[in-house]
Amino acid sequence: MSHENRVVLITGGGGGIGTAIAEKYVRDGAAVGIVDSSPQAGALLAERLNKLGYRAHFVVADVSVYEQCEDACRRIESALGPVDTLVNNAGISPKHQGLPSPIWRMDPAEWRKVVEVNLNSMFYFTRLLVPGMIERRFGRIVSMSSVAGKAHLDIVAAHYSTTKAGVIGLTRHLAGELGPHGITVNALAPGRIDTPLVAGAPKEANDAVIAVTPLRRLGLPGEVADACLFLTSGHSNFITGQVIDVAGGWLMT
Ligand SMILES: NC(=O)c1ccc[n+]([C@@H]2O[C@H](COP(=O)([O-])OP(=O)(O)OC[C@H]3O[C@@H](n4cnc5c(N)ncnc54)[C@H](O)[C@@H]3O)[C@@H](O)[C@H]2O)c1
Repeated sequence: MSHENRVVLITGGGGGIGTAIAEKYVRDGAAVGIVDSSPQAGALLAERLNKLGYRAHFVVADVSVYEQCEDACRRIESALGPVDTLVNNAGISPKHQGLPSPIWRMDPAEWRKVVEVNLNSMFYFTRLLVPGMIERRFGRIVSMSSVAGKAHLDIVAAHYSTTKAGVIGLTRHLAGELGPHGITVNALAPGRIDTPLVAGAPKEANDAVIAVTPLRRLGLPGEVADACLFLTSGHSNFITGQVIDVAGGWLMT
């Protein structure tokens, strides 16, 4: 799909899906800027990719704080060059003893945090990187929604599904606003993906999803990454404002 000479910024790049995305981009010729609030995961990933001869730069930042996003963009662009591809992937889905909070017990501070991390960060990075994309008349943006943003799922809480629906709304708005500038904006809606987080969930919870997934298994982080690379490659130049499920047919939202 060749991303030769491209510069990709990935938020939450140290996590399960983010790591797979970073690995696929560097193998396809891109340089990757990894932004994550977890210093260890991101640093180890960047170090490993650099040792293999790829170009990767890690910046530790909390994507829910605008000033830290601004600093992360500046540091990544001075290390790797102008960012032409943005992957808004950072996300959280707080649970309590493995269960989502019902709305009547949800802590307003937790609600605000989820909105800040899952949705506001998409606005922040887009706001910061789009001026350069407009100037160069080229940009690619992919944001991580979820099937929970399109259908009711009792395994997540209201703040999570609301923000994932918000990602879809903002994707469609931005596709309309930025299309005339040569920028495409799309979203991915993963189903249940076999990341460390999901692997740690009770076996029954994963088995229940597998039973109603036509492909009868969990998805792999690399399979979400493949869809992401497709949406930023030359194979999807006329696709914008779309949400692609990567869910093995689960829900078919
Ligand atoms: N795993 C799944 O089954 C699944 C399904 C649907 C959607 N998603 C979405 O895919 C994305 C990646 O999920 P994942 O499974 O890789 O999760 P993950 O927890 O493995 O990775 C998320 C990464 O985001 C980082 N992060 C969290 N808060 C941050 C903050 N404030 N600032 C900077 N970084 C922060 C974490 O440190 C982590 O490295 C998320 O948006 C998630 O909602 C995942």
